[in-house]
Amino acid sequence: MSRKIAMVVWSKTGNTRLMSKAIKEGAENAGASVEVFKSYNFGIEEAKSYDTIAFGCPAMGAETLEDTEFLPMYETVKPYLKNKKIFLFGSYGWGDGEWMRAWREDAINNGISLFREPIIAKEKPSDDILDKLKSVGRELAFS
Ligand SMILES: Cc1cc2nc3c(=O)[nH]c(=O)nc-3n(C[C@H](O)[C@H](O)[C@H](O)COP(=O)(O)O)c2cc1C
Repeated sequence: MSRKIAMVVWSKTGNTRLMSKAIKEGAENAGASVEVFKSYNFGIEEAKSYDTIAFGCPAMGAETLEDTEFLPMYETVKPYLKNKKIFLFGSYGWGDGEWMRAWREDAINNGISLFREPIIAKEKPSDDILDKLKSVGRELAFS
């Protein structure tokens, strides 16, 4: 069955955007349609209308999600993400992925069941990570 997937992406220098493109490619090759949103275009109504949503945001600030656009959007839609298929991804730099561990834990503590473990990339995603993300796209399309 063809699936409709929403992807909400924030990226400053393009690394998380590259990750999102790999997911989109994998999902579309598997027959799904993928709608990509900027943070400020995604709200409660959009969250309600998709069963499958991928969120991408790099580590910003001090091991936090970007906090002027992405985080306010995420906090707004968070109560509406239960019983959906949610996937988290993003790029980081000098840290060790702490921002994603915190994001994952916060999601689980809020009753959000993650579709699979998040995927992170140190700066620009490697080909290996892009391949993994294409597979995630396929899995999101079929499951
Ligand atoms: C303002 C700012 C804050 C950042 N904070 C962190 C951080 O806390 N931890 C980390 O590992 N990387 C941090 N980085 C590095 C970015 O997460 C990294 O460069 C990432 O690849 C950017 O993704 P993007 O290209 O999708 O914007 C920060 C970068 C900027 C510009």
